[in-house]
Amino acid sequence: MEIEFVRSRFIKHFDGQTGNIYFSPGRINLIGEHTDYNGGFVFPGAVTQGVMAEVRPNGTNKVMAYSIDLKDRVEFAVDDPDGPKATWARFIYGMVQEFRLLGVDVKGFNIAFAGDVPLGAGMSSSAAMESCFGCALNDLFADNKISKWDIVLAGQATEHKYIGCNCGIMDQFASVFGEEGKLMRLDCNSREFEYFPFKPEGYKLVLLNSCVKHELAGSPYNDRRNSCERVAKAVAAKNPSRNIETLRDCTWQDLDDVKSEVSAEDIQRATFVLGEKDRVLGVCEALVAGDYEKVGELMYATHQGLSKDYEVSCEELDYLNDIAKECGVTGSRIMGGGFGGCTINLVKDELYDNFIATAKQKFNAKYGHEPKVYDVVIGRGSHKIA
Ligand code: GLA
Repeated sequence: MEIEFVRSRFIKHFDGQTGNIYFSPGRINLIGEHTDYNGGFVFPGAVTQGVMAEVRPNGTNKVMAYSIDLKDRVEFAVDDPDGPKATWARFIYGMVQEFRLLGVDVKGFNIAFAGDVPLGAGMSSSAAMESCFGCALNDLFADNKISKWDIVLAGQATEHKYIGCNCGIMDQFASVFGEEGKLMRLDCNSREFEYFPFKPEGYKLVLLNSCVKHELAGSPYNDRRNSCERVAKAVAAKNPSRNIETLRDCTWQDLDDVKSEVSAEDIQRATFVLGEKDRVLGVCEALVAGDYEKVGELMYATHQGLSKDYEVSCEELDYLNDIAKECGVTGSRIMGGGFGGCTINLVKDELYDNFIATAKQKFNAKYGHEPKVYDVVIGRGSHKIA
């Protein structure tokens, strides 16, 4: 995305003056899906697509916001108790409120922003917005004293309180902490993380977007989380001497022990989560050993679990996964929350062209449109551009 694109709109829609420009990316996730809110591990990285915003304090207590993509304008007072109705503006409003809770004296500002993270693709366009607005508020009103983790948590709180999605911390973490060319393994329990340079010799990472709309707020996403919490609670009640907070603290034996106390469906969801915890660690070992065949095998296993046990896939995504298998792609799976969006594919260089051509042709023949193709470039996290 070009700075000039955002700047020209900022100038046109406000008073002709310029402000500061900030950027935050969307993310991919190699493996570790629906594990973040269960205290498990995730393996994300930032992408080069993201949200860019130009922001300038306006000397009032009003936020005047313009969405360049939607051509929509909204105004609200910084201390408005309810906030705006438009969802896109609630991301700004939520971040302002969370910064105020952190003790930051946020004043009015003008903001225009645009994004090139495909919406509903499972690449976290919303986290890109939250961290971009957080980066701006930190710079303009807090002398950059708010820590990166507090920005991550403010983004998550915005989702919970103002959007209605009880998400984990993976997306906001990846958007804020991302580094070029590196994936990150985050332990969502302790919040410890490690950067992993990711340059698989001879392979490419590519996303195929089914273009099935994915909307997590108010979706079965929250139901999945509730299932996991019910199982963890049942295990905790049975084991008062152990400190059980999430499925992270539970064993396969624990699941067996509470089988009669929770629904079969809840057990099925928890089965996926425990398996996924092991798979992320397996991928880490395989990456260190340079064993991409193993990485790929675990990705397929994750797809299977997300589709059959966690039930967050859809026909189109399963079809893309089948095509990947037929084309000899090393690893393929649904990425992100699911219910639509993309598959992430680890494919050998020499198989790439055939895979993409076959996926386009077959998907088009079945669903009347081609999947969109995004080659993954691991980019940099939130930063000020100008
Ligand atoms: C969404 C949520 C994340 C995470 C993923 C699934 O992207 O925002 O917190 O739970 O789904 O791994």
